[in-house]
Amino acid sequence: MKVGFLQLRPKFGSPKENVRAAKSLLKNISDAIVVLPELFNSGYLFRSKEELADVAESVTGGYTVGEMKKLAKKRQLTLVFGMAEKKGRKFYNSSVLVTSKGKVFSYQKTHLFDREKLFFQPGDKSYAVHEVDGTKIGMIVCFDWFFPEVTRVLALKGAQIICHPSNLVLPYCQDAMRTRSIENKVFTVTANRIGTEKRGSFSMTFTGKSQVVDPEGNVLASAGERSESLKIVEIDVKAANDKSINPNNDLFKDRKVSLYKPLVQKLAR
Ligand code: ACM
Repeated sequence: MKVGFLQLRPKFGSPKENVRAAKSLLKNISDAIVVLPELFNSGYLFRSKEELADVAESVTGGYTVGEMKKLAKKRQLTLVFGMAEKKGRKFYNSSVLVTSKGKVFSYQKTHLFDREKLFFQPGDKSYAVHEVDGTKIGMIVCFDWFFPEVTRVLALKGAQIICHPSNLVLPYCQDAMRTRSIENKVFTVTANRIGTEKRGSFSMTFTGKSQVVDPEGNVLASAGERSESLKIVEIDVKAANDKSINPNNDLFKDRKVSLYKPLVQKLAR
């Protein structure tokens, strides 16, 4: 099967333009899982809730999801992309998965980064794995990578591929995601954005270097830091089912769960 990423430079505040651009770049791709960046349709650096409200959309019935569903159906694609979600009076930094058969799943980012906390609500639903044509897919969004518990939970729930729409700014995520792949023996697809967003006195530069990593930590495809890039690779997704490390070690069977209790307790400090 084929998986890959579309690394982009979104234009702030222009969902229609960004969706059109992404669709055009994907027009010759078919039969693949393709991951796009976090907030790919809106841009990242909101200065107020009003700015966010102008571009946030419903996952059920919004413009972006509708267009991506049409593309997924036409090209037999599974698309995973980040967008600002409006649900009731709340806003979420969400990842959406649309299938070629019109199914839609979403995940609301749980670990908000820096000023995202001023505008978005953190997601609070349990991490879910979605089966699409027999492949088990989990989603995380950008800064979730810093919390290895998230990818571990997804792997324990059977995820074979973890899709990671991102707007990365810290320099070490791409290396860390190789570790997330190794320590869970899963494929990870990080789709990052590029470019600098300047919004008044705020500025952020995103690091590109999107990548597909296999369960051994090998980088199967990667992008540069400055250009938009579409890369698709062939994988044997069943490689993620084998959790054995050697004849005497198994990633899941060797876990010492009775010793891990502090992981699920709040630090008292
Ligand atoms: C990030 O979570 N967008 C850094």
